[in-house]
Order: sequence, then structure tokens, then C-alpha cells
Amino acid sequence: MKHAWFPLMLSLFSLFAGRGGAAYPEAKDLPSKPGLPDPLVMLDGSKVSTKEQWAEKRRPELKALFQHYMYGTLPPVMKFQVKSLHKDEKAFGGKATLEEVGLDFGFPDHLLRVLIVSPNGRKEPVGCFVGPNFCGNHAIVDDPKVAVPTSWIYPNYPGVKNNKATEEGRGKQADVWNLEQTIDRGYAVATFYAGDIDPDRADARGGIRPHLPKDLDTTSIACWAWGVHRIVDHLVARPGIDPKKIVCVGHSRMGKTALLATAFDDRIAIGIPHQAGCGGTAPSRGTVGESVKQINDRFPHWFNAEFKKFSADPTRLPFDQNDLVAICAPRPVLFSNAQEDTWANPNGQFEVLKAADSVYRFLGVEGLGASEPPPISKLLSSRLGYFVRPGKHSMNKEDWGAFLDFADKHLGK
Ligand code: GCU
Repeated sequence: MKHAWFPLMLSLFSLFAGRGGAAYPEAKDLPSKPGLPDPLVMLDGSKVSTKEQWAEKRRPELKALFQHYMYGTLPPVMKFQVKSLHKDEKAFGGKATLEEVGLDFGFPDHLLRVLIVSPNGRKEPVGCFVGPNFCGNHAIVDDPKVAVPTSWIYPNYPGVKNNKATEEGRGKQADVWNLEQTIDRGYAVATFYAGDIDPDRADARGGIRPHLPKDLDTTSIACWAWGVHRIVDHLVARPGIDPKKIVCVGHSRMGKTALLATAFDDRIAIGIPHQAGCGGTAPSRGTVGESVKQINDRFPHWFNAEFKKFSADPTRLPFDQNDLVAICAPRPVLFSNAQEDTWANPNGQFEVLKAADSVYRFLGVEGLGASEPPPISKLLSSRLGYFVRPGKHSMNKEDWGAFLDFADKHLGK
């Protein structure tokens, strides 16, 4: 009975919500709850007992809560024109078609450049991996025609001078994306330089943010996820791509983005947040690796001002990352990690999957289907999948092998 006042307070808040008042309690007024929350319990404490309640009440409530207290609001859907910038129908020795398309939202001096590589000679439309990259499309393939980003870029990426990418970085990330392996397995890949959407700096503006309403409470991660969604708009209408087989992938901060993008867009069939850690796949209530305070202090632009209020006590968060996975249900989600990457708390991530499992089973599908993590390098390919390989924080060929096996299984190959 410790928090008997809480539901009453909430109903008062909801009364005001309809009139433009604050819809949710202040962080300091939320009760401290140490364990991972049950996704099937509403904010007011009532239990979800039907699939309709889940779909119509709890799932939308969770989406609103994540935006209010953590990621900020995803920018609104926007229309764009597609321009083909460069096309090579004989890429990878003739195995694939490589095209760069520009999504033009009509903002001055702005273009979202998407690199799309698809296998040639397939009778049926193919599945497609989509996700942001760190260093530019030109870094992923060794093709002199793929444009070097003109947007702001980190100084410590290969070939960067004065925060601009240069020719020197061309092809330097080829073994991060391993495109040829994916092509050979019959999938397309669509990727974009994250900086075309948001520069990933608290003190730099660029990408789409200057073109959004000034009072929009948004963040880098919400904007990147929005970028993924706009590319999905293009992919679902693109000949040769199977709109039912879109897999969202991302590494680290882009893994956080991949999970958010998957949760907020049902057109994405599978989510693969790789080594996403705190603010993504690791529990905010976790005690291993990066903490909410550390991530808020170092990367204030990833999350909104509300989230900072939980730095001192994340147990007051009215959700944890298992709730973000639950929003994805019943779609398959794979958490993949590296053994030495304890900063991302791989073991805590397994607990997150365990605590999302009830929603999958409530919806009548398989969830995690395991009580212990699988051995190293062995893929647990349940609908809630898990994979840890030896080594450090990176994305490599072995990781992609697991992503492809997971996609094959769940997309019926
Ligand atoms: C830092 C940060 C992580 C993040 C990672 C990355 O290590 O602490 O939260 O995932 O950068 O994006 O590479």
C-alpha cells in the first residue's frame, strides 16, 4: 500500500492532460521501483488482461511514456522527392546493383543520401536491412562515385579534416558492413550517414533539426529513428524490395536508434540492435557498464531533459528497456553483443529480453524460449533472439552472419 496515492494522482494528471496541461507526473513524484517493470501493468497500476487493451491502451501509453521521459518526440512524417544520384548495375563483380538515392525534403542545402545495394538476378523481391552508419556511405564501399558526406562529421573517423569527411575514408568501413556477404545471402542493404539527419553533438546543429519546429522536444536518437522511417517509406514502394521483409539494424548508438525505430514503425519486420547498451538494449536499472547518469552527462543530446531527472535514481523510471522491446512484439528482435563489451552489459540485456517475454507469450507467440544465455558464438534464434561472440565493441562479419541466420529463420528462408 506504499504508493496507494499514485493511481489517484495519475487520474488527476490525466484530467489536465486533455486541456494541454502536463500529461505525466514529474520524475521526482514517480515511485522508486527497483526491478524490471511488468510491461502488462499500466502506469496507473491496472493489469492488461486482453489483447485489445494491450493494442489500444498499453502499447500507445508506452510509446508516449518513452517519448515524454526519454527519447523526446519523433519528428512528424514528411514527404520527400527521390532523386537517383548514381547507379551501378554491375557492382560487386556484377552480383549486385548499387544505387545512391537522395531523399529531398525541400529543406535548403539538405539531402538525405541513401546507399542501396541489392542482389541481381533474383526472381522474387528481396528482404532489406536498413540502418544508419557512422562514417558516410563512401566509407562502406570502394566506389569512387559514392558521394562523400558534406554534413558535419566526427574528427576521429578515417580521413576526416575540419569536421568534413574526405576521400581518404573511402572504403575504410567495408568490413563493418560486409555488404558482399549479405548480397550473397540474397538480401539488400540500405544505409545512410547518420550525420545527414543529426550531427551527434550537443553543440552543433545540422541535419534536419534546424528545419523542425523550435519547440519540438526531440533528440538525436529520435531524429535518427525518424530518418530510418523515411527510408522505410521509400523501401516499401521500391521495386525489387519485399515490403514485408525489412530488417532494421544498427551498432551501438545506432543500435539504440534501431530499437527505437523498430518499436515505432510496424513496417519493420525485425529489429537488430547490436551492442546497443545503456539507453538501448541494457536495463536503465542495470548496475554493470554504463549508467543513466554517465550517458546523460556525456551524451546529453541523445535523450531529452526529462531523462536527466532520472540520472540520480533510474528506479523511478516508469518503464525500462524491456518495455521498448515489448512495443516491438510480436515481431522478432535480436540482441547481439561481444563478450568483452561489458560497457554494454550483455548479461543485463538478457534480463531485458526475459522481462519482455511475457508480452510475446500474451500475444500468443514464442518469446525468448530459454532461461539461460546460449554459449558464446551460438545464436539463440527464438523470436526474442540473443547472440554473444568473442571480442570487443565493433560490428563484423561474424555478427552479420548471426543477423542473416536470424533473418532467414524469421522471414521464412
Ligand atoms: C559510447 C557510449 C555508448 C554508445 C557508444 C557508441 O561508448 O557510452 O552508450 O553505445 O559510445 O555509440 O559507440
